[in-house]
Amino acid sequence: MSGLSASPASSPVTGGGNVPRHVAIIMDGNGRWAKRRFLPRIAGHRAGAEAVRTVVRAARDMGVQALTLYAFSSENWRRSTEEVSDLMGLLKLYLRREIRELNSENVRLRTIGDLSGLGKDLVALAQEGVEATKNNTGLNFVLALNYGAQDEMLRAVRDIASQVAAGTLSPADIDHASIETRLDTRDLPPLDLLIRTSGERRLSNFLLWQAAYAELLFVDTLWPDFDRKALADALSDYGTRERRFGGR
Ligand code: IPE
Ligand code: IPE
Ligand code: MG
Repeated sequence: MSGLSASPASSPVTGGGNVPRHVAIIMDGNGRWAKRRFLPRIAGHRAGAEAVRTVVRAARDMGVQALTLYAFSSENWRRSTEEVSDLMGLLKLYLRREIRELNSENVRLRTIGDLSGLGKDLVALAQEGVEATKNNTGLNFVLALNYGAQDEMLRAVRDIASQVAAGTLSPADIDHASIETRLDTRDLPPLDLLIRTSGERRLSNFLLWQAAYAELLFVDTLWPDFDRKALADALSDYGTRERRFGGR
């Protein structure tokens, strides 16, 4: 694979070559997609997993460096036992089926979130995938599993506090970087574009620190219907935005 350094010919939409380095998506609307079809919620989640396949490949082709997908939030445990177990089953199935292909496409799998709260099988599969793809140089595909931004920040603060208590870090030396280097996203490019599907306009505890200056895009499309064209449209919209970061 020739990697992402060159601007891929299949990226027709981002005039000026202004491709976001890091795109994150709150994949919402699986349940409503199913409901409209008089299907059980699991059918919506299955269709959502298909959309993940499509969008990962599209992001790779369009030259995005990192794609972070919100697959299971630290609050999603509040759903019925049946739905939680369906979602865990689907995640395992997805990882079992996809790792080999992701690997052959030079995609590097990563995770963010608190894996310690997840089942052993799922963690083992995720870790296998991360290990198998760790030398790949193409798209960083980041699965947010049992992820909550407040939990992520809490873990960072605890780590800082324990170093202060141990006398290895002085409070006066704590800066933005002290926090950033302890977030789950520390090895990823800065978040440029955050998309939420299904018409909801909230962040639901996703990447709160990282979103400080990200461009936000809310689309009405339900996640299972989000396809290559939808991603191309999103990147095209991003290409028209003027980012200021507080300056000017
Ligand atoms: C998103 O779809 C999938 C996950 C949260 C895992 P939802 O299940 O939230 O779908 P809606 O919001 O009920 O339509
Ligand atoms: C956010 O969607 C979580 C994921 C997409 C994994 P939710 O559907 O869980 O969020 P709320 O409950 O509508 O805020
Ligand atoms: Mg939802």
